Amino acid sequence: MKKTQADKVRVGRSSAGLGLYASQEFKKGDLIIEYTGETISTAEADRRGGKYLFELNDKKTIDGKGRDNIARYINHSCRPNCYPELNASETRVFIYAKRKITVGEELTYDYGKDYFEIMLKPMGCRCQKCTAK
Ligand SMILES: C[S@@+](CC[C@H](N)C(=O)[O-])C[C@H]1O[C@@H](n2cnc3c(N)ncnc32)[C@H](O)[C@@H]1O
Ligand SMILES: [Zn+2]
Repeated sequence: MKKTQADKVRVGRSSAGLGLYASQEFKKGDLIIEYTGETISTAEADRRGGKYLFELNDKKTIDGKGRDNIARYINHSCRPNCYPELNASETRVFIYAKRKITVGEELTYDYGKDYFEIMLKPMGCRCQKCTAK
């Protein structure tokens, strides 16, 4: 039987608000989920602002605030277990497993320098690496 998104991941509480968790095991390189939303100009994204913007390139950005974009719950980590990759035409974003991921692990990727410096650093990063004592 074909797996649905709900079989693969679930939303839950994390150290950084809500987060996305693995409901199944993933192998390194497995496609986990697509980051979806409205594609807008980066100028429009600058006007809108918000925490769910994913910049595709210097011209286009995906505004992932829509409720059906479950990938919007994936938090940033400085030691992530996932990574985002664009398709060749830089119109879509897919999130892959960076290593083996076990059931119950929180899914994270590196948001990149710009997002980190502007949105996360001022409040302090709450990823596992940065909060470990
Ligand atoms: C794409 S959303 C991720 C889902 C978010 N936690 C939520 O509850 O909707 C990005 C926002 O989550 C929070 N966030 C994600 N990763 C974080 C981190 N490592 N440390 C602190 N806040 C983080 C920040 O507020 C950031 O702007
Ligand atoms: Zn961190």
